[in-house]
Order: sequence, then C-alpha cells, then structure tokens
Amino acid sequence: MASSFGAAQVLVASNRGPVSYEVGEDGSLHAKRGGGGLVSGLSAIGPDAGALWVCSALGDGDREAVRRGVGEDGVRMLDVPADVHADAYNGIANSVLWFVHHMLYQTPLEPVFDAEFRRQWASYEAYNRAFAEALAEEAAEGAAAMVQDYHLTLVPGMLRELRPDLRISHFSHTPWAPVDYFRLLPDDIAEQVLRGMLGADRLGFLTRRWADAFTACCDALTGGLGATEIGVHGLGGDADFLRKRSHEADVDERMAVLREEIGTAPEGGARRTIVRVDRTELSKNIVRGLLAYRELLARRPEWRERVVHVAFAYPSRQDLAVYRDYTAEVRRVAEAVNEEFGTAGWTPVVLNLEDDFARSLAAYRLADVALVNPVRDGMNLVAKEVPVVSDAGCALVLSREAGAYEELGEDAVVVNPYDVTGTAEALHEALGLPAGERAERSKRLAAAGTALPPARWFLDQLEALRG
Ligand code: F6P
Repeated sequence: MASSFGAAQVLVASNRGPVSYEVGEDGSLHAKRGGGGLVSGLSAIGPDAGALWVCSALGDGDREAVRRGVGEDGVRMLDVPADVHADAYNGIANSVLWFVHHMLYQTPLEPVFDAEFRRQWASYEAYNRAFAEALAEEAAEGAAAMVQDYHLTLVPGMLRELRPDLRISHFSHTPWAPVDYFRLLPDDIAEQVLRGMLGADRLGFLTRRWADAFTACCDALTGGLGATEIGVHGLGGDADFLRKRSHEADVDERMAVLREEIGTAPEGGARRTIVRVDRTELSKNIVRGLLAYRELLARRPEWRERVVHVAFAYPSRQDLAVYRDYTAEVRRVAEAVNEEFGTAGWTPVVLNLEDDFARSLAAYRLADVALVNPVRDGMNLVAKEVPVVSDAGCALVLSREAGAYEELGEDAVVVNPYDVTGTAEALHEALGLPAGERAERSKRLAAAGTALPPARWFLDQLEALRG
C-alpha cells in the first residue's frame, strides 16, 4: 500500500522540538528557535533531504500554533491533550524514568508505584502512541526514524508494529541505570520499557558505560538484545560555533559586568574564578558544589578575597515541586556562604538564576576553574565547552559520574561528587595549577571535547542506521 506512505525520508522524534511559540499581548504568535545537537545535525543534511521533526506541543503558545495551523517547514507538532502530556512528561518521564537513570530517589520513602502511577503510565503509553502514529503516517517507505530519549521509550516497538519497513533508532541522552536500580521499576514496566526500545534496529548511548548498563538490564530481564544493535556516540561541543559566538559584542558587554562583580584581589589583579553553568537539575549537584567551595574557604583561608565562585543555575522543570525546592536550596546555601565569608569588597558567590546564553559564554571566557560535579550525568557539554572558550585556558574539576569523564578524565581533576571535602581539595589543586600546565591541559580537553561535533555525531548515527 505504497500510497499510504508519507514523504519524509529522515524523521526525528523528541518531546521538545526545535521551535516553541509564545502568544504576544496582541494575540500574535512569536516563534523561538532552540539549539543543540539535533538542530545542527538536521541542518547538516540540508533542506532537501526530506527531513521531518515530530515533537510535542509543550505550552499554551505551542497549542495555539497547532490550532491556528502555524508551523515551520519540517516540523510537526503534536497537540497531545495537556493533561496526558503532563502525566507523561512530568509524572512519568521526569519523576520516574529520569529519577531511575540518575539514581535520585531517597529510597526509604520513594518511589511508590501505586494506582496513581498506573494511571500516569497509561498516559505515557498514549503519548508514545501519538508519536508512533504520527511517524508511521509521515514516513516514506524504508525511511529512517530517529527517536530520542526517555520520554519516548515505547515508540520504537509501537512504530515497528505499524511500519515494519522502517529503519528505527533510539538515542538515550541520559545515563542508563545499573540493573539493581533499574529494577526498582515494577517488573512489567521495566520489561515494557526495554522491549519498547528493542523494537529499534539500533540503540545509541553517549558512553560505553551507559550502553553496557542497558545491555545488562536486557540480559537480566528480556533474555538479551535480540537483533538490536548498540552504538556509542559521545556528543561533543561545536568548536567553530563556540569560538565565534563567544567573541560577539553581547558577550563582551557581559564580561565587563562580570569583571566588576568579580573584582580585584588584595595584591592587585583580577580575582580567580570557579565557574559553573547548569540547568538546575537535581542531578547537577549544585548544592554540594557550594558546600565544597565553603569548605575550601574554611580550610584554605589563603583563598579568601582571592577567588569568586560564579554559579549560573538556570531554571528547569519548574512544574515539579522538588525542582522548585532544589532551586530554593541552591539560593539559600549561596547566601549562607556569602553571609559567612563575604566582606565589604568581596562577594564570594556570584549566583544567577536567569538564563542568559551570552552571559554563560562570558563566564566561560573568564573561567580559571570549571566545576562540573554532577551526581550522574549522561554527558555534560559544559565540561567540554569551557576549555574551548576560556581565554587563558581553564582547569576542569570533573565528576567521575559524568559521561564526559570517559573522554576528559585524564586531563581533569577528578572528584567523587558526594565527597565534599575531596571536592574542596580538588578546587584547591585546580586553582593552584601552574599556568603552563593549565593551558596545556585545557588545550587537550578542548580537543577531546570537540572531537565529535554535533553535525558529525548525528550523521554517524544516520549512516549507521541506514547500514
Ligand atoms: O540532557 C538530557 C536531556 O534528556 C536532553 O536530551 C533533553 O533535551 C533534556 O534532557 C530534556 O529536558 P527538558 O525537560 O527541559 O525538555
């Protein structure tokens, strides 16, 4: 029935799409384009490649755009009912699957898999089905469908049933949980997730470690991978873009403001900087980072007045109370450090909670030390980007639980993210690295961190999928 096939040769499916809409006061719709690896990848295959991005309407603006039939070429937004989306995205994806893969539960009291969980799971299934049906409708015969992330684990299996002719992949941008932790999920749900993903021809992960964890879960629960192939694709930073963008006028302006805030050391010259830039995820470990900085100032008083911790923690998933509480805790601990150690001319922590990409790049340029200490992270692109952008080269304090550790571990100062004293000592070591060694290490970190730029990362997967 060739006539029922769609026209798209390459399809990407993800919860968050490349564009979002806001309704202005006059009722007009404003489109905002996002960035990231998939955006670069799709632009690399060119406008005539027959690519289609299937994503979900996320807010009221997006829903309005769908209703008015406004859209960008190459993007199909699904208007999944808001309550179904909320259950699937907030309830299951972000409060269960994200927690499992990042090992975030405080297990004496959570998780609780009860009737409410089952109700939300039904929404997750419906939302996955909406994606599978849209992909099935839009795909040309034999097309490549590239499904993204923990939001859409059931899509490959559902799509396989609807369209056995397609080449289907799934890519996990998160870590994968170790078997024992994955098995916190009810047995039938754990198996459904794995079997859903195994509907793909090819599964991609950011590191060998996450790929092995997935394979171990399949060995324990589904009797192995079957015919599905596994690939490791360690997304890197985009050196050309970063170098160019970080020297534009808006970044220079923000550098001037930041320099003022950072100020001058007692013996003259700019104070040293410890820079971190994160979305405020529970997994980023911002609070322990602040506690480590506090301990550095307590244990090593020689750094007082001579260093500033520039911490940018941008809002994420504010619909979830636990994220709002975490953000409040970040603010509280930063204020406590400033209260305890600050002086008339020195603010030890410069905290900013409002997203500003140009200001992030300004901080990267000024970084002496980059602090990346997540309790668990699929990759962490900040670790890869700061060494590329920093003007004088930076030292990297890096958690061994970040995916980036696999590629950057050798030239970083490596920490156990739970060890606050160890992190304080790592900060001390990083701040004290001789300039020559720091520059050398930073150069190697930048090279390793940009070895697989986004466009190549995407094209490699597409080529491998097409076989
Ligand atoms: O960073 C991991 C990741 O899964 C990305 O692939 C994805 O874009 C993001 O998290 C999801 O975040 P959000 O909930 O803001 O869309």
